[in-house]
Amino acid sequence: MSIKICGIGSFNPERIITNDDFAGIMETSDEWIYSRTGISSRGYASGVPTWKMGVFAAKEAIKNAGVDPSEIGLIIASTITSDFFTPSVACLVAGELGLFCPAFDIGAACSGFVYALDCAERYLRTDNKLKYALVISAEMLSRYTNFNDRSSAIIFGDGAGAVVIERTEGVYGSYLGSDGAGGKHLFGKLPFPAYPFYEYEVTGMEDYPGPENVIIQNGKEVYKFAVKAMPAAIEKAVAAAGLKIGGIDFFIPHQANIRIIETAAKTMGIPLEKFIVNIKTRANTSSASIPLALCDAVREGKIKRNDIICLCGFGAGLTYGAMVLEY
Ligand code: COA
Repeated sequence: MSIKICGIGSFNPERIITNDDFAGIMETSDEWIYSRTGISSRGYASGVPTWKMGVFAAKEAIKNAGVDPSEIGLIIASTITSDFFTPSVACLVAGELGLFCPAFDIGAACSGFVYALDCAERYLRTDNKLKYALVISAEMLSRYTNFNDRSSAIIFGDGAGAVVIERTEGVYGSYLGSDGAGGKHLFGKLPFPAYPFYEYEVTGMEDYPGPENVIIQNGKEVYKFAVKAMPAAIEKAVAAAGLKIGGIDFFIPHQANIRIIETAAKTMGIPLEKFIVNIKTRANTSSASIPLALCDAVREGKIKRNDIICLCGFGAGLTYGAMVLEY
């Protein structure tokens, strides 16, 4: 069994923040940011909550799939930037769509879309009554950006992507992994309220003290992890699909940094042209970056029906994963 993406949708915020805008509030430059990351600009949600971005992307994906919303039997959303710790983004989307199916969020950071899709595939494989599943990634990184840290602030953007999937026969392979010991290199501490009955302690992140409620990263460590995780996940997913690297038409990597993508491509001996890259204008939108890149590539006519694609995510957790399927 495999899954087929029968509809795609996206939400890209209207408000664009350029590298020059950053140069106006911190000591940096367009030249530094672009040459180190491949990013020129990013969208900031500015008033549109995370769940609402998910609704826009979901509605477009359902319309694009040409299915009646009532036929959706499962909603999985991936986010690390939810508006509420409960209810989930998936439930809020279900409410907007008037659906009563299972709906839940998963948190696997920038690997979240691959994790959510893998999870939905398992539902479709084991539940014959389920016809369509909706998988959404909605992220508002601007809400958790540390504007006092110029090396991390400049990489993030906001957006949402969604797909409707159904069961099909065909090529399929998936691989998910994690490296929890590396979690301290990329994390965000929640602001715990003063609590009268319990002490709380956050351990393991002592090397990187920082403010709460913002993303803290050791860029160099994350970079080192990413350039190893990407080839490892891709090779395992391609093997699980019974293919060779040459059998993949397009790779859709998490859009974290163009240099990470270039290094991984070189390590695997894959021409860079086979990688879908939209980081220049979308930046790093965490789990939304893969579906956003897919949407852009399909709309540009680059990815076409029956192309074999390989999605690859990596990020906080640390997590990583890849999936091979036919578009
Ligand atoms: N503008 C100008 N200078 C900056 C800067 C900025 N925005 N950010 C950092 N610098 C400076 C630093 O202060 C440092 O200066 P110093 O040498 O005088 O101390 C120098 O540039 C190098 O800083 P460093 O943090 O070591 O830069 P880097 O080459 O590692 O690049 C990243 C920083 C974040 C671009 C890079 O590490 C990276 O992309 N890592 C992966 C991050 C990632 O992908 N995270 C998400 C994963 S899902």
